[in-house]
Amino acid sequence: MNGKLVYIRSFGCQMNKLDSALVSSALKDAGFTLVESVDNADVVLINTCSVRRHAEEKVLSHLGHLKHLKENKPALVVGIIGCMAQRLGDELLRHKAVDIVCGPTQIPQLTGLINKSLQQKQKSVAVTSQIRQKVSDRQAQTLEEFESAYDTDDKQLPSQAFVRVMHGCNKFCTYCIVPYVRGPEVSRPPQAIIEQIKKLADHGIKLVTLLGQAVNSYSYTAGEKTYCLADLLYMAAQINGIEWIRFVTNYPSEKIFDEICQAMADSPKVCKYLHIPAQSGSDKILKAMNRKYTAAGYLNLLDRAKTVVPALAVAGDFIVGFPGESEDDFAATVELVKKARYKNCFIFKYSPRPDTIAEKNLPDDVPIETKRRRNIELLAVQEKISNELSSQFLNKQVKVLVEGLSKKPHLNADDKTGSPSVVSEVEPQLIGRTAEDWIVVFNGPQNLAGQFADIKITRTSPLTLFGELID
Ligand code: 5AD
Ligand code: SF4
Repeated sequence: MNGKLVYIRSFGCQMNKLDSALVSSALKDAGFTLVESVDNADVVLINTCSVRRHAEEKVLSHLGHLKHLKENKPALVVGIIGCMAQRLGDELLRHKAVDIVCGPTQIPQLTGLINKSLQQKQKSVAVTSQIRQKVSDRQAQTLEEFESAYDTDDKQLPSQAFVRVMHGCNKFCTYCIVPYVRGPEVSRPPQAIIEQIKKLADHGIKLVTLLGQAVNSYSYTAGEKTYCLADLLYMAAQINGIEWIRFVTNYPSEKIFDEICQAMADSPKVCKYLHIPAQSGSDKILKAMNRKYTAAGYLNLLDRAKTVVPALAVAGDFIVGFPGESEDDFAATVELVKKARYKNCFIFKYSPRPDTIAEKNLPDDVPIETKRRRNIELLAVQEKISNELSSQFLNKQVKVLVEGLSKKPHLNADDKTGSPSVVSEVEPQLIGRTAEDWIVVFNGPQNLAGQFADIKITRTSPLTLFGELID
């Protein structure tokens, strides 16, 4: 132990959460101690997201707070990692609060940079100037060693872990910053992924989620064979101790789609859950987004998936107010949402990202009030569908993996007053998820966290099921 205390705050997607977990393990290995608050930390790391402007604004406001903190504590070392670090590089380093800027592909160097900063009080930046250049074999190997040496069994949700199967993205959707900050697609060797999952299973992990920006683009050639995501799913399903396998996020593409659906149908361990963002239901907008499918093609994929896997739960993402989106285009999105019958959707207002193709070539011409209205309208359409789908669970029994204590006190099933439910000390309110990602709230002993439990559903709402633990 070197006695130094580190606080890490993570913004953004699962990739970032995974990076934070890897960095935490690396720092613990190097003798640092992780703490839950900035107050007594020697080092503060912020893992940042650039996907929308709002995400970056949150980080900048946090930095303002850290600048004040540093005035009273000049020895504090502040490091910015993640997508914003790669996007802004030196510009971020000029911020008074910031000592270290380290991009997502440089995180193996982070421990060294922190030690240098602690000892020499020197600012440093580690980002790549040519992010789209093919990564060298040496760089890929360094990342691979970092990835598999530090597993993630210590972290947020008991019995669950994320495993990256690939880095980067080659899709270049015109609105998206990711290809410019996380670099080109690089798939990890299947053997390394499977070894990592075996190790996680040995540490009690029951649910693994395979991660990739477009996870179904996974492709790795070793000798005669080229491995695809379906191969990984079948291989992971062989591992003792692993009970559930999820994979996110899918790009709507014909390539190996049927094979992936077949893997869901064949293996009880592969969760019947497909997160497959459509982004829009208008062919004109899809083309402008450089999404390589039509609305009809997308719905055809869903039909095929539901034929092979009838119990499939589908989730999606949408962007409203993309440049040129007319009322007709938006109506086409509403239609698609109605036909797709998602379990849930994430809906975002278009946010122009610097240097993306859309930002450079297409005026952000949909007024913010229109974006807001479309967002609300689409959410309402989705909420009705989520409600219809969730109500089918009433009086049924479901199996959940228990995550732990419910963070928000949910309303009691019988409580019409709107006051939070009474939480007994022996049986607090717990939260779990089904294999299809439905959230289930119930009362039970806290030591169920990380275990599977059977729940009888007694009430439903659009996004949450409520129930009773079956002994
Ligand atoms: N503006 C709004 N939403 C965006 N997303 C990605 N880029 C943008 C942007 N510039 C959304 C997409 C993606 C999700 C992770 O974030 O819907 O699927
Ligand atoms: Fe961005 Fe498109 Fe790649 Fe997803 S597939 S990360 S939206 S460029």
